[in-house]
Amino acid sequence: MHINAPFELILFGGLGDLAQRKLLPALYLLHRDGRLPAGRIYSTTRRDIGATDFAEMVRAALKRHVATEYLEESSWQSFSERLHCLTVDLSDESQYSLLAGALMPGDINRIFYLATGSDLYTGIARGLHNSGLILSQSKIVLEKPIGHDFASAQAINNAVAEYFAESQIYRIDHYLGKETVQNLMVLRFANSLFESQWNQKYIDHIQITISESLGVEKRAGFYDQVGAMRDMFQNHLLQLLCITAMEPPARLEPDAVRDEKVKVLKSLKAITAEAVSDKVVRGQYDAGVSDGQPVPRYRDEPGVQAKSMTETFVAVKVEIDNWRWAGVPFYLRTGKRLADRACEIVVHFKAIPHSIFPMQHKNTMANKLIFRLQPDEGIRLMLCEKRVGPGMNVRPMNLSLNPANHKQTRVPEAYERLLFDVLSGNATLFLRDDELLEAWRWVDPILQAWNDSEQRPEPYTSGSWGPAAATLLLAKDGRLWDENS
Ligand code: BG6
Repeated sequence: MHINAPFELILFGGLGDLAQRKLLPALYLLHRDGRLPAGRIYSTTRRDIGATDFAEMVRAALKRHVATEYLEESSWQSFSERLHCLTVDLSDESQYSLLAGALMPGDINRIFYLATGSDLYTGIARGLHNSGLILSQSKIVLEKPIGHDFASAQAINNAVAEYFAESQIYRIDHYLGKETVQNLMVLRFANSLFESQWNQKYIDHIQITISESLGVEKRAGFYDQVGAMRDMFQNHLLQLLCITAMEPPARLEPDAVRDEKVKVLKSLKAITAEAVSDKVVRGQYDAGVSDGQPVPRYRDEPGVQAKSMTETFVAVKVEIDNWRWAGVPFYLRTGKRLADRACEIVVHFKAIPHSIFPMQHKNTMANKLIFRLQPDEGIRLMLCEKRVGPGMNVRPMNLSLNPANHKQTRVPEAYERLLFDVLSGNATLFLRDDELLEAWRWVDPILQAWNDSEQRPEPYTSGSWGPAAATLLLAKDGRLWDENS
C-alpha cells in the first residue's frame, strides 16, 4: 500500500483514556512531523458533545500528554481540521448505518480502531459488516487485552474473522512499538557478537520488569475486572520475552517474525496448578507513599470492590523448553504502585569460571546487557575494567548506547510507530491469531488456579518493589532482582 494514499481512521472509544493519553497524541505528533498522509480522524462518542466541545477536549488531552515544545498553534490548527466526532451507541448495531452516511464513499485505506472493551469487538465487527463498511482496503485494529481467557479470545478471533481476512486484522501491543524493542532486534540480528552468545552456554538468566509507580488511577472499572496478568503479563511481558528469546527470523516480514514468536510461546514450560505457588507470585498494593505522597491501598481506591482479589502485581519464573534456553530461567514481573516507573530487559551472562584478579564478588561482576525501554531509553553493556591506579583491582563499567544522544530527532512514541505501520499496511509488529491464542493457552492454568484458590494476593506496601514472596522467588535460586539497575 502506498503510504501517501488518503486514509480514514475511526476511533471507537474515541475519547476514552487510551485515546486521550496515547492515540490522539501519537496522531498529532505524526501530523506535526508531516508523516500523516491526507485523511480524516473520527472519534466515536456515545453522547453528542458538539464539534467545539470535542475539539476542546482533544486539545486539553494534547496539552496533558504532549510535551509543550511540540505543541505549536499552527500544527494544532491544521490537525484539528482532520478531527471529527461521531455520536454512535456502539452497543446498538442499527446505529452503524450512521457511520456509513458520514464516511467517504469508496474503497479507501479505512482503519477501524477498537479502543473499547473487547466484549464489544464482535458486535462492532458485525455492525460494520451489516452496514457494508468493510471493503478490501479496510483494516481493523484490536487493542489488548483481547478476551479474558483462551476461550473468549478464540471466540473473538473467530467472530472477527467472519468479516475481516487475517491480513486486515492488526492486534496491537504497544510495547512492540517502543524504540528499544526494535533496537533489541537490531542488536541481536545485525551483530554476530551478541547472537553467538545468546544461549544457555553463556547466559545465566534473564529478567524482564515493567514497573509502574502509578496506581489504578481512574480505570478501576476496567482494571478490577482484569488485573495485572491480563493487563500487562499476557501481552506486554510475554511479547518482550518472545522478542528476546526467538530464533532469528529468515526475513523481516510479518509471518517470518510471527512464526518465530509462536515457536517461543509453544515452547514455554506449562505451569500446572500445583506449580503455581512455587513459580508465580501475585500481589496487591497496600497503602504507602508514592512519589512523596501518601496513597491508599488498592481495595480503598474508588471503584474497586472492598474485597477485591484482583492482582496489581505478578512475578513469574518462566522456563523455555528448547535447545537455546534449556536451564535459563526468565524472571518476569510487573506491578502498579512500585518504587519506580521503569521497563527493562536485563540479560545476565554467566560469571567467569575462574578469576585471576582480586575480585571478591565474582557473581555480581558477571556481564549484563541491559535494554531499558523507559523512562530513559537506552542499552548498556556492563563489563569489567581495571580500576585506575596501583594493583589489579577490577570494577564494573558501562558501555552505553542511548538513542537520544546520537539522534537529532526526538524518540517517537510507540503508538506513533504502530499507527504509521497500520496506515502503511505493515503487520510485522502486530500479533497473529495463533500467537494471541498461544499466549492465553499458557496463562490460562495460572488464572484458573488463582480463581480456584481462596488465598488473597500478597499485600505489598505502595512505593516498594512488591511482595516479599517476589524476592523469595529469586532467592530460592540464589539470585536477586535488579532494582533500578
Ligand atoms: C497499558 C495498560 O497497556 O500499558 C496500563 O493497560 C499501563 O495499565 C500501560 O499503565 C503502560 O504503558 P506505558 O507505555 O506507559 O508503559
